[in-house]
Amino acid sequence: MTALQLDDLQQYSDQLRTRGGKPVTVRFVEPRDREELQNYIRSLSSRSRYNRFLGAISELPKSELERFIHIGEADRFTVVATMLVDGFETIVGEARYAFHGDTNAIEFGLSIDDRWQGHGIGRALLGNLECRAASFGASRIFGDTLRSNESMLGLACKAEYVFTHSPGDWKLVRFEKEIHVEPQDIPCASWRLAALRSAAMSSLAI
Ligand SMILES: CC(C)(COP(=O)(O)OP(=O)(O)OC[C@H]1O[C@@H](n2cnc3c(N)ncnc32)[C@H](O)[C@@H]1OP(=O)(O)O)[C@@H](O)C(=O)NCCC(=O)NCCS
Repeated sequence: MTALQLDDLQQYSDQLRTRGGKPVTVRFVEPRDREELQNYIRSLSSRSRYNRFLGAISELPKSELERFIHIGEADRFTVVATMLVDGFETIVGEARYAFHGDTNAIEFGLSIDDRWQGHGIGRALLGNLECRAASFGASRIFGDTLRSNESMLGLACKAEYVFTHSPGDWKLVRFEKEIHVEPQDIPCASWRLAALRSAAMSSLAI
């Protein structure tokens, strides 16, 4: 697994685009985002929140919000997708992922602001997560979603994930994909930095 430089999180930011070409930044969440992230979760429709968190919650419990904000703890990370709305950087999506070293896999969940769903942000964010997974050296990425969650199932299908049973809960379906590290296909800052570090390590070893 690659070590993150937590004192300079900005270097892991990426620029994506909506289907219509609007810029979207994906970056690690920071403590300054605490309140806005909570407001973002509150502003999701109850259906989106239910689909994202697999239960009826109106906001993130305080302890969970703290876990979201403190990235890297227990190999869990949160990124936010932001756009400039009326001149202000605004959270329009989030994703949380965990690296499971025992299976060399990344597990994730994500959401997009209801007002921005259907604009290609989920697809772009998913591609970015795959790149971030590659930067860990993960060989597989997966998530679990409700069988009734047509948008997530549609997105996973579009992104060529395969579907399997989710262990332990018949209401869930698992979607997963093997990760192949092709720098020209999945560029992201995390991967580039991991590649640079590993090149530096091998030159030191000579
Ligand atoms: C699932 C979710 C992340 C998709 O994000 P999005 O930005 O709306 O998706 P995109 O616009 O990038 O769509 C990409 C593809 O997903 C599929 N898709 C998206 N919405 C869909 C829907 N309502 N029904 C069926 N397929 C859908 C389509 O194949 C689409 O490609 P197309 O528009 O070219 O046909 C978003 O709907 C969401 O946040 N839902 C609530 C939270 C959630 O369910 N999270 C998943 C928990 S793991």
